[in-house]
Amino acid sequence: MRVLSAMQPSGQLHLGNYFGSMKPNLDFLDKADESFFFIADLHAMTSVQDPSLLRKYKEDAVLDYLAAGFNPEKTVIFNQSEVPEHTELLWILSTVSPMGLLERAVSYKEKVEKGIASSVGLFIYPVLQAADILLYNADTVPVGKDQKQHLEIARDIAVKFNNQFGDTLTVPEPVIKEEVAVVPGTDGQKMSKSYGNAIPLFGDEKEIKKSIMGIVTDSKDKDDPKDPDSCIIYRIHRLLLSEEDALVLADEYRNGLPYGDAKKKLLSVYMDFFGAMRENRARLTSKDARDALDTGALRAKEVAGKTMKSVRKAVGLR
Ligand code: ADP
Ligand code: TRP
Repeated sequence: MRVLSAMQPSGQLHLGNYFGSMKPNLDFLDKADESFFFIADLHAMTSVQDPSLLRKYKEDAVLDYLAAGFNPEKTVIFNQSEVPEHTELLWILSTVSPMGLLERAVSYKEKVEKGIASSVGLFIYPVLQAADILLYNADTVPVGKDQKQHLEIARDIAVKFNNQFGDTLTVPEPVIKEEVAVVPGTDGQKMSKSYGNAIPLFGDEKEIKKSIMGIVTDSKDKDDPKDPDSCIIYRIHRLLLSEEDALVLADEYRNGLPYGDAKKKLLSVYMDFFGAMRENRARLTSKDARDALDTGALRAKEVAGKTMKSVRKAVGLR
């Protein structure tokens, strides 16, 4: 099994990223024959166009992932832009990608609606993502639910390429954990970097405290019974607990646990849950990031170079 996934460096990582993307990928590290994980900096350029900010997000992302357990001895970790084969394959694939296929992509429309500037890059974002995956002959791609359509597009493009030029590319299988619910943000909407409702994983404890204390609740009185399932504090808290402990906590809500106390409990469990990761993060330096990325890029180039040799031959460039 060859596993591959990626993350756009577009801001501070949060609890939704952890459960929707980091954790499922971490769970695969030991199962894979080889696994690849990269920082999708070329993709991020469709929304981050401030060079110093992009540089900061990229370095933070590598350090965050190393701290979370993406051990460079177990996974090939690298920056997308350091392996130029990604953009070469993007071009070749774009010549077999039907316009209609991309016109049906919902993420382009959603991003433009959210205020991201429309650009050719944003439109062909899914073709670059297909190149990312096909370059490494990855057969397993663990992603969040929102990436389902991108994975379908990558499969369609691989099949089209193979039909036109002969069997060259591996058709990838997405691994989407349907049961990984969308993690709610402090306002109850999907937690997202861009909605101002995220609880960060790293950074200052004060910031984490501020977002947890700011979780929106209804106006029930201190000792009134509360409904755990409709309470955002509980829906976040239970992600950090065993099933048994979650049931015990749910009873406390029903017995009138005041929201203020519930938030304090959540904060303490949160700091424990992510304590080791946060300590690792504080110890890591820019040099650790650079060392991991250099080693990763060497291996990534080796695999990508091999695929590109057969792709160039198949299409008649060599
Ligand atoms: P954001 O919405 O914060 O910009 P991204 O779009 O960069 O997040 O998502 C990166 C990864 O994290 C994706 O695989 C996505 O599915 C996952 N993810 C982001 N937010 C959540 C959430 N609230 N719940 C579950 N998974 C999430
Ligand atoms: N589009 C993905 C996201 O926003 C990131 C990504 C880029 C990716 N290339 C990939 C994910 C290849 C999996 C495989 O989360």
